[in-house]
Amino acid sequence: MDLENVHIEFTTAAEYAQLAAELHKQCFDSPWGEASFRSALTIPGTIAQFLSKNEIPVGFALYRQMQEEAEVLTFCVLPKLRRGGIGRQLLDTGIEYFRQARVRAIFLEVNAANNSAIELYKNSGFIQIGRRKGYYSGGNGRQDALILKLSCADSIQPKNNEKTD
Ligand SMILES: CC(C)(COP(=O)(O)OP(=O)(O)OC[C@H]1O[C@@H](n2cnc3c(N)ncnc32)[C@H](O)[C@@H]1OP(=O)(O)O)[C@@H](O)C(=O)NCCC(=O)NCCS
Repeated sequence: MDLENVHIEFTTAAEYAQLAAELHKQCFDSPWGEASFRSALTIPGTIAQFLSKNEIPVGFALYRQMQEEAEVLTFCVLPKLRRGGIGRQLLDTGIEYFRQARVRAIFLEVNAANNSAIELYKNSGFIQIGRRKGYYSGGNGRQDALILKLSCADSIQPKNNEKTD
C-alpha cells in the first residue's frame, strides 16, 4: 500500500463508538452496534485504533489491555481496500503500541475458517495455543475458534533508565 497520507490513531474515547460501528457494519455479517462499542469503551483498558487513508477511516481495531496482557477484541479493513497491506499496517502498529506499553502477550480468537485473518496474524508472529470447539455459530453451522497468542516479551527493550543486569 502507498503509505502516504496514512494516519493511525489510538483512542479510549467513547465518542468514537459511532465511527467504530459504521466501519464494523461494512466489514462483518453480524456487526456490533454503536451501543456495544460505547459500552466496551467505558471499560478501563479498552483501546480503539483507527487507520485513515486520505483522512477517510478504512481500518479499525478494538483491544483490551489488562496489565501485562492485551486482547484483540475485533479487527477489520473495509472490503474494497483489502489485500493492500492495510491490515498488516494496522496490526503491526497495534503490536508496537502494546510493546511500548510493556505488554508481554497479546491474545485473540479467530474463526478457524477465516484463512485471511489467520494468515495475517500468523505472519505477524501469533501462534495457535488452543481451539474452542463450536464457538461460533453461522450460516455453515457451528465453527471452531482458534486461540492465538503473540509473545511480546522477547522483544521488549529496556527503558533508558532501566538497568539490564
Ligand atoms: C483479515 C483482514 C483484516 C485482512 O486485511 P487486509 O488489509 O486485506 O490485509 P493485508 O492486505 O494487510 O494482508 C496481510 C496478510 O494477511 C493475509 N491475507 C490477507 N487477506 C488474505 C486472503 N484473502 N487470503 C489469504 N491470506 C490473506 C496474507 O498473509 C497477507 O500478506 P501478503 O499480502 O503478504 O500475502 C480483512 O480481510 C478483514 O477485515 N476481514 C473481515 C474481518 C475479519 O475477518 N477480521 C478478523 C476477525 S478476528
